[in-house]
Amino acid sequence: MAQASTTEVSPTVEMAGVTKHYRGGGGIDDVDLEVVPGEVFAFLGPNGAGKTTAIRLLLDLIRPDAGRIRVFGRDPRKDGVEVRRRIGYLPGEFGLYGRLTARELLTHFAHLRGGPPWPAIAALTERFDVDVDRPLRALSKGNRQKVGLVQALMGEPALLILDEPTSGLDPLVQQQVHDLIRAAAVEGRTVFLSSHVLSEVDRVADRVGFIKDGRVISVTRVADMRARSVHLVDVRFMDAPVPPELTGLPGVRLLASGDRTARLEVSGSIDGVVAVLSRHRLADLAVREPSLEEFFLRLFDDEPSGAARPEDDGAGA
Ligand SMILES: Nc1ncnc2c1ncn2[C@@H]1O[C@H](COP(=O)(O)OP(=O)(O)OP(=O)(O)O)[C@@H](O)[C@H]1O
Ligand SMILES: [Mg+2]
Repeated sequence: MAQASTTEVSPTVEMAGVTKHYRGGGGIDDVDLEVVPGEVFAFLGPNGAGKTTAIRLLLDLIRPDAGRIRVFGRDPRKDGVEVRRRIGYLPGEFGLYGRLTARELLTHFAHLRGGPPWPAIAALTERFDVDVDRPLRALSKGNRQKVGLVQALMGEPALLILDEPTSGLDPLVQQQVHDLIRAAAVEGRTVFLSSHVLSEVDRVADRVGFIKDGRVISVTRVADMRARSVHLVDVRFMDAPVPPELTGLPGVRLLASGDRTARLEVSGSIDGVVAVLSRHRLADLAVREPSLEEFFLRLFDDEPSGAARPEDDGAGA
């Protein structure tokens, strides 16, 4: 292939004005996006938002009503075989071939794709601690999901398309999956995944597209999202009323307070709040990130100005 010196990288995945409506409602509307090599892109949205629909369109499992889709610069409809050969795909429900063992299924898939050899596959099944000699239907949901992941990851495909990759997995295995996803990106491969868990996207993705009711509301760098993130802090003081300096901090808003209790909303870093709290005796402290729904609402709130909140942008951070 020609060596482009300083030209920009061509995207692995492109969608432009892609629309798909199902009979009876649902689908996606006018979706535009690009994902480049070395990037982890996450589609984040609630159930029924259209994440799986977008993924199935990329794989040409369904066809768009309108718009343009390119994968590796090619039309997944016309060049389906070539395109598919370079994709590792984890479907949302990996439940087929129940009679086969993981070893049989994975060997079969590897044969179809011309590799990789069993030892390379076994390195992954061992990493995930999968019993490769039991029929898939005898495995737990999480263990079947792991087989699906091995199937997607094996052979180091240039594009990984993972529909809810960590659903049903315990936290330790989730972490391993995140590590493998990050490692793939570092090697210059492209990852397109769906999730409905904000904290997962925060951990693993470079960019996130928020999708709701079939529309992409916003596409954001995760680093920017983090800077705009909000925490809810509930605190109960042991023996003093709520100290006034707490609410004077930049980015801090007092949502509710009682005799010795306060609920604060903190934009950006919570460092400043923690510093103040550390000078007092606390009976209780809880910090939580907002739910996905709260985060979405905030996104809509911020839309008109597009800028940071008027008060401040967190000088303490
Ligand atoms: N094959 C289909 N036929 C008809 N409607 C469908 C079909 N697949 C999805 N839909 C509808 O399209 C909308 C989007 O579904 P989709 O599966 O893409 O959502 P999702 O974001 O993947 O949700 P989840 O988080 O539950 O997996 C939903 O309203 C759904 O009911
Ligand atoms: Mg889905």
